[in-house]
Amino acid sequence: MCGIVGILNSNSLKTESIDILKKLEYRGYDSAGLSLFSQKRIKTIKSVGKISALEKKIKSISDKPFDGVIGHTRWATHGVVSRNNAHPFYDDNLTLVCNGIIENYVKIQKFYKEIPNDIESDTEVAFYFLSYLLNKYSNPDSALKIFKKTIKGNYAFVIYIKKNKSFYLLKSGSPISLSQNKKIFYVCSDSSILSDYHDKIYHLKDNDFLKINKDKIINLKNNEPIIFEKNLKSLNSYDKGTFQHFMLKEIHEQPNVLKDTQQRYDKEYFLDFDTKFSDLVNSDKIILVGCGTAYHAAMIGEYYFNKLTSCDVSCEHASELRYKKLPNKKCLFIFISQSGETMDTLMALKYVKKNSHKAVVITNSLQSTMVREADLTIPTYAKKEVGVASTKAFTCQILSLANLSLQIGKIDKSINISQYNKYLKSLKSLPTKLNKLINDFTPVAKKISKKIALADACYFIGRNIGYPIALEGSLKLKEISYMHSEGFAGGEMKHGPIALIDKGTITICIIPNNELYEKSLSNTQEILARNGRVVILSSLILKKNSGTLDTPQLPKENFIDTPFIYTIPLQLISYYFALSEGTDIDQPRNLAKSVTVE
Ligand code: F6R
Repeated sequence: MCGIVGILNSNSLKTESIDILKKLEYRGYDSAGLSLFSQKRIKTIKSVGKISALEKKIKSISDKPFDGVIGHTRWATHGVVSRNNAHPFYDDNLTLVCNGIIENYVKIQKFYKEIPNDIESDTEVAFYFLSYLLNKYSNPDSALKIFKKTIKGNYAFVIYIKKNKSFYLLKSGSPISLSQNKKIFYVCSDSSILSDYHDKIYHLKDNDFLKINKDKIINLKNNEPIIFEKNLKSLNSYDKGTFQHFMLKEIHEQPNVLKDTQQRYDKEYFLDFDTKFSDLVNSDKIILVGCGTAYHAAMIGEYYFNKLTSCDVSCEHASELRYKKLPNKKCLFIFISQSGETMDTLMALKYVKKNSHKAVVITNSLQSTMVREADLTIPTYAKKEVGVASTKAFTCQILSLANLSLQIGKIDKSINISQYNKYLKSLKSLPTKLNKLINDFTPVAKKISKKIALADACYFIGRNIGYPIALEGSLKLKEISYMHSEGFAGGEMKHGPIALIDKGTITICIIPNNELYEKSLSNTQEILARNGRVVILSSLILKKNSGTLDTPQLPKENFIDTPFIYTIPLQLISYYFALSEGTDIDQPRNLAKSVTVE
């Protein structure tokens, strides 16, 4: 995780680096810092908390005497959140920032007595190690080569060494990109941000070892020149408009981004499906992979594929897949990732590719590392998602999976043309339906959130396609409100979780009008019988029993649009509950938007 920026030779080092760090804040906001440097000195300022705190601290500093800057926003991995553990780490000759994890830092720390033994931060150990090597070897390039050879892990380093006035970039795993215009250089861990500055970009490859001195770049890995490519203009918007939070804005944007995504699929992307996607159609097994919310999308995808196609399909947590033996069959892996940078997902993707399987990525970030690694990309057009809790990116991922399974089901004749047309029509009519749902449900969500405020814990249950919706509802609630919450498959309650139920708990029951609704209602009764309180979300008109706090009626659904119709009310309930709790909704504690460590 963490965000890195570096700028050389610009006239507004301070303003631009703070601007970029603010855009990078989604990668972590535990602490921040920057080092301004020139041939004569290095000036470092660090602070705990968000970039706004750092911005205040550097107000009075002039950046005129400096040639460059490196900056960092941190998501703590090793070492508590503190000013000392904030990056950059620096001395008179050296300053550095790192994104990633140095896996062998304990060994290095034990081996070199020059490194203090009470340091907790892996990057600080790396700093002391490099500082020691720079003292030992007169040529900084030689010191850096030994440094690079010794450290193990997934990382990106940006380093300035005063002695030879050189700027170094080291990459192994974590993303980092460089753009240049004459003597001005920008470095950033999110390449899409750089398109606001330069239109040519170089995405560092693993083991790249760049040295920038004046306007010259050398790749010390192989001494070959680096080749810049065109940087796609990003459509990023960091404006909340009239909304109080990005999350609320992004919930409200869903009808529009779903409309855009569906239109692109209809007009360009899924045209000539069978030729373009022959690998999808011809594989023996499909495995859907993701993390967190994207994993819930994968689970929904599994229900779609299972019902609408004859594919053998399953889904996996990316963090688990990487350490499993892969099937011998011809598999197609579909990776789902909003950012396209999540380290667990990226490593799993690299692992399946290494084992000669095909990889498709469904992503919202066309400039991401996963796009460069996968055989094929299916874009979602949710536009920039700023709120840490995923909302519109999730529903676009589901739309993508719905379209995929419909196309495959049509080809393998699991569904007939009239079923295909009926489902496609309902995906196309989602924007109108969801606009009305958001408006109608907002007051209901506010009312339900007040009831949750009186509870000790909030659970979510659902069956079949309602199960991943329940998991997603629970994840949203806990991540932005910090309320204890779990999601369960309705049928599993009696096998253990029902022991949690008492009068202090609320269970939100997802009960679409499908073949399982009576069984789901029975699960609700079992909770009520144990004095638990329930809220039932259903399109059915239901009687309120005692203990049933609310039974808001949702629009009529069918199999394919169920996840959209039931997810959006859960997003709104979580949002309004978190609002009443006064939490930091767009940047909840302990989290980051892009998780680039394993
Ligand atoms: C939760 C959330 C996370 C992400 C997960 C994967 O609201 O956003 O659970 O879904 O970290 O991120 P991506 O999709 O970028 O791979």
